[in-house]
Amino acid sequence: MEQQKANNDLNTPILEVKGLKKYFPIYSGLFRRQVGEIKSVDGIDFSIPKGKVLGMLGESGSGKSTAARAAIRLIEPTDGSIYFNGESVLGMTKSELKALRKEVQIVFQDPYASLNPRKTIRENIGEALIYHNIVQTKEEQVEHVANILIQIGLSPDCMEAYPHEFSGGQQQRICIGRAISLKPKLIICDEAVSALDVSLQAQILNLLIDLKETLELSYLFISHDLSIIRYISDEVIILYKGKVVEQGETETVFNVPKDLYTQTLLSSIPALYPKKGSLDLLHNSIYLLK
Ligand SMILES: Nc1ncnc2c1ncn2[C@@H]1O[C@H](COP(=O)(O)OP(=O)(O)OP(=O)(O)O)[C@@H](O)[C@H]1O
Ligand SMILES: [Mg+2]
Repeated sequence: MEQQKANNDLNTPILEVKGLKKYFPIYSGLFRRQVGEIKSVDGIDFSIPKGKVLGMLGESGSGKSTAARAAIRLIEPTDGSIYFNGESVLGMTKSELKALRKEVQIVFQDPYASLNPRKTIRENIGEALIYHNIVQTKEEQVEHVANILIQIGLSPDCMEAYPHEFSGGQQQRICIGRAISLKPKLIICDEAVSALDVSLQAQILNLLIDLKETLELSYLFISHDLSIIRYISDEVIILYKGKVVEQGETETVFNVPKDLYTQTLLSSIPALYPKKGSLDLLHNSIYLLK
């Protein structure tokens, strides 16, 4: 019985979204009457199995960030149902939502903008630990943050430094450290490596993969970069104008794209998606940089 429950728990997706919609109203005229709506996310379904990475691909404006935000109620969805680890997110009370905020973290594209420039790394990473009552004293906070810094490949000695003293790659490591500080189950990476140069991208991707294994995380990994999505994702979902055009196991979608849009998307990146050989070369170089 216990074993069956454990298996069921394991089979329950960490996040499951059905018929998710987010429409933004368009207002016009003197009286700001609503004259229409932007259908940013228009009825999408996806699910993220535990311990897996779902890659979300799509051109700019296709609704990736809106879908991710609506899926965890950072913005209220217009319609749809959402389940986090089997529990309805739309039915959550305020305190349940606060608990959800601990379980899901987001890493954004611009690390410097995500960090508070006036606060030290200890404060940037450790503030949420105090808010969520994980630590009570400064000593406990220092100990926790030191452990996190080691996990993200930085020295605990840099704890009292400020964000501007770090490189872009290091700043993104700090953002990842802040994200893992509350021991979340799901991390949404919204173009998390897009602003970094290729060698740094590889290092951060490998850090994310290592953390996924050691901390048993799942990721929703948003990117417009095909090679990055292919490298990190187990499954992939492709959005176009707020709708899903294709989804499935990553290699299947990349090798045998069914939808015409996906075929065009995959063939339109000559430098990073050549017919054969060089993509493997890129992947090998990512492995080598590890
Ligand atoms: N708060 C908002 N009010 C009105 N329209 C919005 C709002 N947020 C997003 N949109 C619109 O929704 C659509 C999808 O935007 P979204 O930011 O989700 O796309 P994206 O796929 O993340 O793009 P990018 O790759 O550029 O980040 C766009 O047309 C955008 O203009
Ligand atoms: Mg976006």
